[in-house]
Amino acid sequence: MNKPIAKVSDIIFVRFALRDLEAQAAYLDDFGMRAVKKDAEAIYYRGSGDDAYIYAAQKGEADAYIAAGYEVDTIEELEALAANAGVAIEAGDALMGGQMVRLSDPDGMGIEVYHGVNKSAAIDENVPVLNSGKHKNRVNETQRFGGGADEWSMDGEGNMQYALPSSIMRLGHTALNVKDGPASIKWYHDVLGMIVSDNIIGPDGNVGGAFIRCDNGDMPSDHHTLNVVALPPEAEPFHGTFGHAGFELEKSLDDLMAGHFHMKTSGKYTHEWGIGRHLLGSQLYDYWRDPHGFILEHWTDGDLMTADMPPQDVPIVDVVKGQYGPVPYSSFNMSLPVEAVDEFRDSIPGLTEMIVSAVEGPKG
Ligand SMILES: [Fe+2]
Repeated sequence: MNKPIAKVSDIIFVRFALRDLEAQAAYLDDFGMRAVKKDAEAIYYRGSGDDAYIYAAQKGEADAYIAAGYEVDTIEELEALAANAGVAIEAGDALMGGQMVRLSDPDGMGIEVYHGVNKSAAIDENVPVLNSGKHKNRVNETQRFGGGADEWSMDGEGNMQYALPSSIMRLGHTALNVKDGPASIKWYHDVLGMIVSDNIIGPDGNVGGAFIRCDNGDMPSDHHTLNVVALPPEAEPFHGTFGHAGFELEKSLDDLMAGHFHMKTSGKYTHEWGIGRHLLGSQLYDYWRDPHGFILEHWTDGDLMTADMPPQDVPIVDVVKGQYGPVPYSSFNMSLPVEAVDEFRDSIPGLTEMIVSAVEGPKG
């Protein structure tokens, strides 16, 4: 393997161009982010972690994913990335600060790499203490999440609504649909220093994608900071498209469940997949589609790995089956206008069953 040009230490944000910033801001409020700056031209949202923002959208004529922002620890790495790509080092915007370079991956997906960004003080949150069968950590104390039952109210039409959203801490990863899995895995290693946690082996026995992570040496990194999955030739319109962005929650399971019922009882949004627990990365997950049709994920309790964990080969069925949870729709990881989702799901029913059948065959 080639020595990488740089090693990104983490992902910071995702950036979009969207037609309706007001509708997106309302969604992000419900999804559990905190507005940093909102005007007619752009919106910026943060989590309870120390990143200046974790989600940015600018006003656009069409809805489009623009880029993911990553961070490097040294200016030398930023200079090396700029020299390798033949691009200039630019100043970061007023909120993010620092310096940055703009790159494109093999599918033309945008990447912004930063050094020396502003960090805003993390917002302190109390994390619930959980009791389990064998471990009793809370005695003579009730478990109350948020306002307890006071989070419920009835709207004018007699529907019960749950007020408390999730508390998002940070962006943890993105998933991208690519043309050529091995080419993407190589590029993200050779340029950004990312290493494979799990190679996804397709029904043909070849590597069709991977879950890849940042190489932070002895410092633990998330199991994946990026998931790339190669789609077959007939899915060509989706080559080089955004799959989803996964945001880590502050308070574990209660945060995931509360956020689910907040989104659900609002009656405004399209649910995509969850609640369940992934196999690859182990996260508890819940996916929702935003008003522009892009999928954003709540996750918590993921695996962490140091650089010495070797890559594994895993069958693609492990992606769709997970450990438990609903069977995913065929629309999962497909950026589609919300109004087109039902028709897409109907047009390709049973995608999971098709994958399981191709790899394992039916049982019994
Ligand atoms: Fe995810």
